[in-house]
Amino acid sequence: MEKRIAVLPGDGIGKEIIRGAVDVLQAIGERFGHKFHFSYGKIGGGAIDELGTPLPDETIDLCKESDAVLLGAVGGPKWDQQPAHMRPEKGLLKIRKELDLYANLRPTIYYSSLAESSPLKKEVIENVDLLMVRELTGGLYFGKPSERSVKDGKDVVVDTLFYQKEEMTRVIKLAFELAQNRKKKVTSVDKANVLESSRLWREVAEEVSKDFPDVQLEHMLVDNAAMQMIKNPTQFDVVVTENMFGDILSDEASVLTGSLGMLPSASLSEEGPYLFEPIHGSAPDIEGQNLANPLATILSAAMMLRLSFGLEDEASAIEKAVDEVLNAGYRTKDIESEGMKLVTTTEMTEQVKATILDNQTIKSIMECYS
Ligand code: IPM
Ligand code: MG
Repeated sequence: MEKRIAVLPGDGIGKEIIRGAVDVLQAIGERFGHKFHFSYGKIGGGAIDELGTPLPDETIDLCKESDAVLLGAVGGPKWDQQPAHMRPEKGLLKIRKELDLYANLRPTIYYSSLAESSPLKKEVIENVDLLMVRELTGGLYFGKPSERSVKDGKDVVVDTLFYQKEEMTRVIKLAFELAQNRKKKVTSVDKANVLESSRLWREVAEEVSKDFPDVQLEHMLVDNAAMQMIKNPTQFDVVVTENMFGDILSDEASVLTGSLGMLPSASLSEEGPYLFEPIHGSAPDIEGQNLANPLATILSAAMMLRLSFGLEDEASAIEKAVDEVLNAGYRTKDIESEGMKLVTTTEMTEQVKATILDNQTIKSIMECYS
């Protein structure tokens, strides 16, 4: 198979973690006989510095011409004081909108080897397997107006939570479809006791659920969901929610796996290309120190192989390799625990690569004898 991948490293640790994922994809190409063509584009703070915009047109074109997009992270203190349209985050929001990436899938799974890295008790997180489906192109992130002004001599500010019903329907429907291949339960999270948008969200969830009689639907208020997520996370299968709630709850969910550095994500549109990125940020405090955990980005690359290219064996080869490397005791700083082998970003990547390629050697030896 031959595929074109747009690579947008972005800012901070973005370049380091992306290098890890690209290296691993190359190892997959080598083992399974695929050709991946990587083309690099600018996004975020670096793009502002060089080209005066957080998302240059060339980057949008590059993404649209590619089969999939792999993104690192954007942002940093250098650009924190910039006006809204010149912030690195604007680049990320704009590419999500340009590609109409309405559904962001954030799987959280339990790694027994990382149980010690989570601040939560092992009994609580054991066997967690939840999929957060976050609406990604609507709500407070995009509603207009979003501005400050002076009214009757007072400083005032407004952000707008706007949704079209169709935007809710499509993402909720996708959540139900995904649940059909899992434990057949959808938890729809809202704030229907306060917000009108949430009341519509709840109605839409009910409406959509009629077409999925095999899937159980439950509604949960977002404040309760935040509590349930750490109190009893195994009760969840698929969680579907609007943009802002999903942003907040998915960071919380990452604590269940031990580190924000472990959580991949896939952003899907109706037609593709899809975009894959870790859920964590650009961590400017550790930029350039070879300390970042590349696994969330490497696992995002696995999601790319599965969801964009239909390469299930290749995706599982990455996931299995990550599991093996963790079981062998390799840890980056964020998931460090006593008695484990502390490694750098590049060493972690090398371990994953070697495991992917080693398994191949073992496989071909076995084939010779079978
Ligand atoms: C995420 C991030 C982004 C978001 C930021 C960087 C704009 O937190 O992908 O979760 O809020 O969506
Ligand atoms: Mg976030």
